[in-house]
Amino acid sequence: MIREIVQVGDPVLRKKCTPVTRFDAELCALLDDMKETLKAAEGAGLAAPQVGVPIRAVAVDVEEGYFELINPVFVWQKGEQYGAEGCLSVKGKAGNVLRPSKVKILFQDRKGDRYSLVARDFFARAVCHELDHLDGILYTDKADDVRDAE
Ligand code: CO
Repeated sequence: MIREIVQVGDPVLRKKCTPVTRFDAELCALLDDMKETLKAAEGAGLAAPQVGVPIRAVAVDVEEGYFELINPVFVWQKGEQYGAEGCLSVKGKAGNVLRPSKVKILFQDRKGDRYSLVARDFFARAVCHELDHLDGILYTDKADDVRDAE
């Protein structure tokens, strides 16, 4: 089911999201809906608070594949990249953000199994953007030039 994407101004986007502790049918339903919602919106990522659920779960849809990251944490961040971002919760805007060029994270999948991954370039940017959502941070807090998107 496609869920409504919460827009900036809604306090749920500013919450410190809580860790996922139950890897149950409710979580699977949320993740399935997030996938459908993200694909329909043609975005690169979606965090659970963007559909009104303030828990530590995000989806990233990039060239490297489709990833569901539950309780993700950074192991390290390296390098720098500066480039444009947008957000499905900040419609019609874009801005340049400085991000690490390479990150390693630990996360769980929807079954609770633990994994790590290294992301580079745009994938790293998407991971950083989505992980920020879990701490109530929007890219517009970090961008130096938020403007109307073309
Ligand atoms: Co976003």
